[in-house]
Amino acid sequence: MNSARNIYKAIDKAKYNVVVIGVSRSGQWLHLPEDEFMLLTSIESSNIGFPLMLMPGHENPIQYLPEIRNPKSEIRIDVVFPIIHGPFGEDGTLQGLLAILGLPFVGPNALGSSVGMDKDFTKRLLRDAGINVAPWVLLFKHEKPDYQAIVKQLGFPLFVKPANMGSSVGVSRAENEAELKTAVELAFKFDIKVLVEQGIRGREIETAVLGNVEDMQVSGVGEIVMAKGFYDYESKYLSPDAAKVVVPAENVSPKDLENIRRTALKAFRVLGLEGLSRLDVFLTDDGTVYVNEPNTLPGFTNISMYPKLWTEAGLAYSALIDRLLQLALDRHQRDGALQRTRF
Ligand SMILES: Nc1ncnc2c1ncn2[C@@H]1O[C@H](COP(=O)(O)OP(=O)(O)O)[C@@H](O)[C@H]1O
Ligand SMILES: [Mg+2]
Repeated sequence: MNSARNIYKAIDKAKYNVVVIGVSRSGQWLHLPEDEFMLLTSIESSNIGFPLMLMPGHENPIQYLPEIRNPKSEIRIDVVFPIIHGPFGEDGTLQGLLAILGLPFVGPNALGSSVGMDKDFTKRLLRDAGINVAPWVLLFKHEKPDYQAIVKQLGFPLFVKPANMGSSVGVSRAENEAELKTAVELAFKFDIKVLVEQGIRGREIETAVLGNVEDMQVSGVGEIVMAKGFYDYESKYLSPDAAKVVVPAENVSPKDLENIRRTALKAFRVLGLEGLSRLDVFLTDDGTVYVNEPNTLPGFTNISMYPKLWTEAGLAYSALIDRLLQLALDRHQRDGALQRTRF
C-alpha cells in the first residue's frame, strides 16, 4: 500500500491518467477513488471502491475494465503497474491473468515471476548457469525429513524457508537439531515445499536490475546492515532500527562490485526476468558472491532499496516509474508482434 501510494504521488500526471485498483483479501478488484485511496489503511476495513469486471479478450487494442454497478463505465487501461507482494501478486498468477486480459504490465512475465518466487526453482536454474547459491536440501510436507542426514550434509547454522513466500515469513535460523525441527514445522505452515539451506557468512548486498532482455542495466550496490541476527520479518517491518539500508554500500572493492553486478545481470537473464528485479546476494570475506534471491516486485517506496539504487545512479524516482511503464509497453508490443499460429 505504501509503495502504491508513493508511486501514485510521483507518477507524471501530465503524461499519465492514473486509475487506482485495489485487490481485497478475497480477491475482488475494486476501483478506488483517488482521494480515498490516499487515506486508506486497508481495503478490508473500508467500504469504499467499486467492484470491476474483468473480461478476457477485447476487440480493440485498448482494454476497458467496467464497474459492475455500471457496465457502461469505461475505465481505460493502457498499462498496469502491479504492486502486490507475495502469493497471487508476484508469483506469476496475477501476471498470467494480466496477459489473458491483454494488458501490458510492469515487471517479469508469468514465467519469470513464478520462477523468481520459488526458491527451489530459482536455485536450480542459477546453479545450472554456474552461479553460486547456498547448498540446500528440499523437503516435501508429505515426506519424513532425515534431520541427521541434512545436518551431516550442510552443518550449522541452517536457514529454513518455505519455497514460495517472501518478506521473511516462515524463515528461521537453526543452530541445532531441535531448532531445525521447529523451523521446518513452522515453514510447512506456509508451503508444501521447504528449503533447508546452509548458512552463508557474508555481507547482505543488493543490486537493482532494470530493462527487457534486449537491454538490461544494473545499478550500483546497497547493503543491509543488521544490528544483530538476520533480516527477519521483525527487522524488515516492525523494528526499523534493527536493520539499516545503506546506499551505496561502503567499502566494496571495485573487483567485488563488478563481480556482483555481472552476477546479478546474468541471474536476471537466466531466470527469464524482465522489467525490474532486485537481486540479493551474499558477499563473503574472500570475495565469493552467492545469489540469495531475486525480488521481482521489490519494495517500491521512495526510500526502498530498489528506487534508491537508481536515484544514486542518476535515475530519479518518477523517471524510474516512467521507464518501467515504457518497458512494459515495449515488451507488450514486441510479444504482440509474434505469430501465434503457424500461418
Ligand atoms: N543461506 C543463508 N545464509 C545466511 N543468511 C540467510 C540465508 N538465507 C536467508 N538468510 C537470511 O534470511 C533473510 C530472509 O531470507 P530470504 O531467502 O531472503 O527470504 P525472503 O524471500 O522471505 O526475503 C535474508 O535476508 C538473510 O538475512
Ligand atoms: Mg529476501
